[in-house]
Amino acid sequence: MSRGSHSIYMRILALESSCDESAVAVYDDSAGLLSHEIYSQIDLHRIYGGVVPELASRDHVRRLLPLLKTALADAKTTPDQIDGIAYTAGPGLIGALLTGAALGRSLAYAWNVPAIAVHHLEGHLLAPLLEDEPPPFPHVALLVSGGHTMLIDVAAPGSYAVLGETRDDAAGEAFDKSAKLLGLPYPGGPELAKLAASGRADRFDFPRPMLDRPGLEFSFSGLKTAVSLAVKECAKAGVIDDATRADIAAGVQQAIVDTLVAKTLRAIEQTGYETLVVAGGVGANRHLRERLTEGARRAGTRVYYPRIEFCTDNAAMIAVAGMARLKAGKFESPAIRARATWSLTELNT
Ligand code: KG4
Ligand code: ZN
Repeated sequence: MSRGSHSIYMRILALESSCDESAVAVYDDSAGLLSHEIYSQIDLHRIYGGVVPELASRDHVRRLLPLLKTALADAKTTPDQIDGIAYTAGPGLIGALLTGAALGRSLAYAWNVPAIAVHHLEGHLLAPLLEDEPPPFPHVALLVSGGHTMLIDVAAPGSYAVLGETRDDAAGEAFDKSAKLLGLPYPGGPELAKLAASGRADRFDFPRPMLDRPGLEFSFSGLKTAVSLAVKECAKAGVIDDATRADIAAGVQQAIVDTLVAKTLRAIEQTGYETLVVAGGVGANRHLRERLTEGARRAGTRVYYPRIEFCTDNAAMIAVAGMARLKAGKFESPAIRARATWSLTELNT
């Protein structure tokens, strides 16, 4: 018998496999996060300078089941105590997603509990709910990851309006591509941030696109061209030493952070909200955190961050988003269905 049928509390198992992290978590809506396991494939992809989708899928297949066993053991949870399986259904690398989706749907079928298809970005957005002091709603969220840069009006869990997003590269991509041009290993964001700490941000003046225009759109693709030019010019002049590379890194970081901070403060002003949430991998950037906290304080806004390990991809955030969906009754039937008769107009309801 499922635990949910004799308890008002629910416990779910969550799987994340959208990119290069395999992760599993167990979450209880009374006791909170009971366990979370993560295996990063960084070492596997490093020699290629980026994520190789087919290798990612194959490695998820190898890692997910052992992680699942450990996560259940750490949470002192048996399958009969699980009331639902949340899995990342997208967006992400399709082969990688399918490994988690197939496992999630199979477990749901075997254990006779609902399968909950979770949107990866909703996971990032709700990650701060894992903290002791969760953010109130409504709030503005700055979602900055390797694939997305968005400002979102979050009215409540499950209710999102996009205020602005990037027209081309994401902020994380800008960090990663600049890092690659500086010869730093993948994933470049944290490496570039480390190098920037010893550099001077005012030696190179990189573009801050869209900053002088109204609105909440971003554009970061011009930055990599500017960085590439700076690296080439310095190499030609024979001054591409460690100090110069650190100065370029500091300049790039400053340009990205300046843009993110200015647009975020604009979104706060536009909505009149007093709460800001920063989510996604780039949210781990210390310089961005300091500047946003300072800017928001002046605007009378409080900033909430997930802890650093929950900024980047993890299954704990998928569990939180999955629990919100399960409680709202937004899940899939555990049975795999094929329908001999199916009215087209049912799709409209
Ligand atoms: O959210 P995430 O783990 O995966 C996606 O859903 O994309 O974000 C990964 C991105 C990468 O581009 C990575 O370089 C960047 O977040 N990142 C950082 C830092 N930590 C991770 N960028 C700048 N500074 C950091 N400390
Ligand atoms: Zn992510």
